[in-house]
Amino acid sequence: MSDLDRLLLQCRAGFEKEAAAEITDQCAALGIYGYCTLNSDDGYLLFHLQQPEDGERALRELRFREFIFIRQWALVGECLELAPDDRIGQISALLQDLPTATELWVEYPDTTEGREMARFARKFGSALAQHLRRNGGLEKQSRNRAQRLLLFTLSGSQLYLGYAPVRNSAPWPMGLPRLKFPKDAPSRSTLKLEEAWHWFIPREEWDTRLAHSSTAVDLGAAPGGWTWQLVQRSMFVTAVDNGPMQPALMESGQVRHVQEDAYRFVPDQPVNLMVCDVVDKPVKTAAMAADWVLNGYCNEAIFNLKLPMKQRYQEVIGCLNLIAERCMQAGVAYELLTRHLYHDREEVTCLLRRL
Ligand SMILES: C[S@@+](CC[C@H](N)C(=O)[O-])C[C@H]1O[C@@H](n2cnc3c(N)ncnc32)[C@H](O)[C@@H]1O
Repeated sequence: MSDLDRLLLQCRAGFEKEAAAEITDQCAALGIYGYCTLNSDDGYLLFHLQQPEDGERALRELRFREFIFIRQWALVGECLELAPDDRIGQISALLQDLPTATELWVEYPDTTEGREMARFARKFGSALAQHLRRNGGLEKQSRNRAQRLLLFTLSGSQLYLGYAPVRNSAPWPMGLPRLKFPKDAPSRSTLKLEEAWHWFIPREEWDTRLAHSSTAVDLGAAPGGWTWQLVQRSMFVTAVDNGPMQPALMESGQVRHVQEDAYRFVPDQPVNLMVCDVVDKPVKTAAMAADWVLNGYCNEAIFNLKLPMKQRYQEVIGCLNLIAERCMQAGVAYELLTRHLYHDREEVTCLLRRL
């Protein structure tokens, strides 16, 4: 197999340039250089490493959890063209050059064309995994530094082959948590907040950080998709919005509706969680979220930053820098995570909290 000399990075179709800017910046911070090749709307791009031996270091030292636009990644070689017969045999032979892995995922671009590969990916993935298990090509024991093999298929015969650390890559195939739309939720945005929890809050911390009977403020709450999620966690919610909340949600008795400006609202008592889905200038929302956390109005905040039409990556970094500076000036240790979620479109979602 050819050198593993490039990172394959998946993102939402249309955000390839943002993912490229991100990987270039992040690698440069480690002294790793290269160049990107991409096509708009492909849903993935490649970062070609100047020094192929840097690939493993990138996988080890960059923190996947801190990526914004990159949904999934792997260190891969050049695009492979498989002959139509015995594809399993051909891939098994190539795998000899890769580190031993504990699992195998077959993925494809999250685009209309890419999704046509879903059936093939599922069938081929399970046949190949079975074959590898029988022949010792996949380790049984998962170790701390377990690797995952990744096949990224563009068609039945064209694919990239590579790997990524299980603990430093997306926990769901293609970086897409499968969430079911709850039929009685008031709006589709409800899944945005649920997805943010899955990415940002380790499952074992949900019971303390999203605790039953704790308090929350939902800024820009109407009609109540995010409030609905908070109510499902048995939280008591102050929903701030001039617009109407879904009546059924109000009947839960756990929601107080306040018709005020989200940017002026101050809670009477500190709350556990503030969430904000208001569509406004991102820098205004970033500054407000920093105020809430630094003034102790909430323990943590989850909020959206609306992306501009141009310079989307730069705008997000500007907002994150503003929050970082505010926290540093206040001498506060903090966690700030940002992600372009599957359920986000022209926005990213952030979590900010004091440590
Ligand atoms: C995207 S919607 C929120 C959807 C909600 N998260 C849900 O899941 O149903 C944005 C909301 O923010 C509200 N909004 C916009 N500017 C606001 C402001 N300055 N103060 C309070 N609410 C505002 C709008 O009325 C709108 O209901």
